[in-house]
Amino acid sequence: MSMGHWANMRSMQRSRDVLAHKVKKGTLPRILEFARPYRSLIAIFIGAVLLDAAISSVSPLLLRGILDHGIDDNNRGLIVFLAVMTGLLAIFEAIVSLAERRISAWLGESLIFDLRQRVYRHIQSMPIAFFSRTQTGALITRLNNDVIGAQQAFTELFSNAIGNVVMVVLILSAMFFLSWQITIVALVLLPLFLVPARLVGRRLGGLYRRSMELNAQMNNVMTERFNVAGAMIVKLFGSPAKEVAYFEQRALQVRDIGIEQATYSRIFFVTLSLTASLATAFAYGFGGLAVTWGTISKGTIVALTLYLTRLYGPLTQLSSLHLDFMTALVTFERLFEVLDLEPTIKESPDAMAIPEGPVAVVFDHVDFAYPAAAEVSLASLEAVAVLDDTPRTEVLHDVSFTVSAGTVTALVGPSGAGKTTMSMLVSRLYDVDRGSVSIGNVDVRSATQLSLSDTVGVVAQDPHLFHDTLRANLLYARPEATVAEMETALRSAQIYDMVRTLPLGLDTVVGERGYRLSGGEKQRVALARLLLKSPRVVVLDEATAHLDAESEAAVQRALDETMAKCTSIVIAHRLSTIRNADQILVIDAGRIVQRGTHEELIAMDGLYNDLYQTQFAGQEGR
Ligand SMILES: Nc1ncnc2c1ncn2[C@@H]1O[C@H](COP(=O)(O)OP(=O)(O)OP(=O)(O)O)[C@@H](O)[C@H]1O
Ligand SMILES: [Mg+2]
Repeated sequence: MSMGHWANMRSMQRSRDVLAHKVKKGTLPRILEFARPYRSLIAIFIGAVLLDAAISSVSPLLLRGILDHGIDDNNRGLIVFLAVMTGLLAIFEAIVSLAERRISAWLGESLIFDLRQRVYRHIQSMPIAFFSRTQTGALITRLNNDVIGAQQAFTELFSNAIGNVVMVVLILSAMFFLSWQITIVALVLLPLFLVPARLVGRRLGGLYRRSMELNAQMNNVMTERFNVAGAMIVKLFGSPAKEVAYFEQRALQVRDIGIEQATYSRIFFVTLSLTASLATAFAYGFGGLAVTWGTISKGTIVALTLYLTRLYGPLTQLSSLHLDFMTALVTFERLFEVLDLEPTIKESPDAMAIPEGPVAVVFDHVDFAYPAAAEVSLASLEAVAVLDDTPRTEVLHDVSFTVSAGTVTALVGPSGAGKTTMSMLVSRLYDVDRGSVSIGNVDVRSATQLSLSDTVGVVAQDPHLFHDTLRANLLYARPEATVAEMETALRSAQIYDMVRTLPLGLDTVVGERGYRLSGGEKQRVALARLLLKSPRVVVLDEATAHLDAESEAAVQRALDETMAKCTSIVIAHRLSTIRNADQILVIDAGRIVQRGTHEELIAMDGLYNDLYQTQFAGQEGR
């Protein structure tokens, strides 16, 4: 009984906006589609719910029999028989209700699993543009809270709707059969509870939403300041007293709203149990008089009051059925919204593998603009009310060049010119708007994802390592690599000596919360990962920017060895890297403004010469 009341209170707390929300057409059939694989289980579940309802509405009649026919008629045999029956029924009911719970948990958890893995798989298939816009927290919420919410609403709806309807019908029929007068009065008393409960429920709903907001604000303060970067800013710029006051203010609001919530929810329960007590008092009073008049028997009063206490729970739950139903629709809709986001970058059905052997990379009249927010994301995942509607601005204009197989092309140019953008088009992290990018004469849009990731290796401007061991991070690039191969790669990336000094060696956990590698060390591990993969096309985005001149030179030698065997695109600020390139492309504002070798470019006036004078000339001696 009290479980039901909790559920009931929870549904009252749910936002009233839910009822105002317009659900997209076709949501209900889609939900049923999810339930389809569990048809037979659902049927068994409904059977158990019905059985449970039936059993629990029989026992008051047995007790009435003991009082009226057993005790009054001095029939000892009947008393013992009915008491044993009541006991057996109670045991049977306990078993059925356990089975019921087990089945509903199975159903619920399976549904959660289905939804979760569907959403996870879908999110994995989204393009990088999606991740660069959405908030990680919002995505995780979809996978955790929304999935669980959808499941709860779903199973609650099943047991609520079906179980309670049957329960109410059975109990009311039994009560009418016993005494229609008392039954009608009990029903009249019902609004006495429902009206205040609704009012309190509404107030609780408001408090609940507000407390969620306040809690989120407080948590935000913590997550922003407890990560290393945030804590550093506080240490360097903040004043501790101000920080504490800022946090306290939020924590105090959370305290106040917690007190309010506790009070109101107690009012809710008090009203409920008060109504039940009043109704019982009335039933005994009115019924007692009726017994003295000889209209009804003692057993009837006992049975009636037992029924009364069992009636209010299901009835009040049914009164919020509509809200439950809408909540289920809305949570499912929030999940479907994510599932309906079409991944903009997909493998084409007739995709082919990039041919074996050395390959050339060709950009052919490429125009490119980063996709607009509406194309790749949802307002609710970006934690903004409306999606940013800035029009797409073209970042690359008519870019054409060829990196012949086995050669090195260097990209240079001012910050924001579009170098990183060009490098991302090679591994098809984005699709071009016009023109094409092809590797080994295969347009990257018609290459298989697998052959593309096998062919192209990238070390990004700010490489990421997973929170895992060095070994796992290296093996991510090539799962079958041997320890000897890993050591060779680490040695070439000039990081082996450092890894060897770590007590756990390759088993050291690195990444966000693991062993802290310096910027340059991280870059070298990322390079080792690339060397291990030994891809045919290498893309380096300032991959050696964090290294000192000496280790850079050493890494460069290792890279030169690898790069001699492959086709490379290198974004670099160092003269040494650029000077050895077979071709230098000078990028400015999304266009190739100059191309040639170092000697050719230095001989003419232009951006390269300016860059050379301001940036590179000082490095000449190295
Ligand atoms: N995800 C994105 N969405 C929209 N615009 C972007 C995105 N990433 C980059 N840009 C824009 O594209 C332009 C080119 O950026 P890009 O990162 O390619 O420059 P870059 O040449 O690599 O510069 P740097 O030398 O500073 O790394 C910039 O104007 C930048 O603001
Ligand atoms: Mg860049």
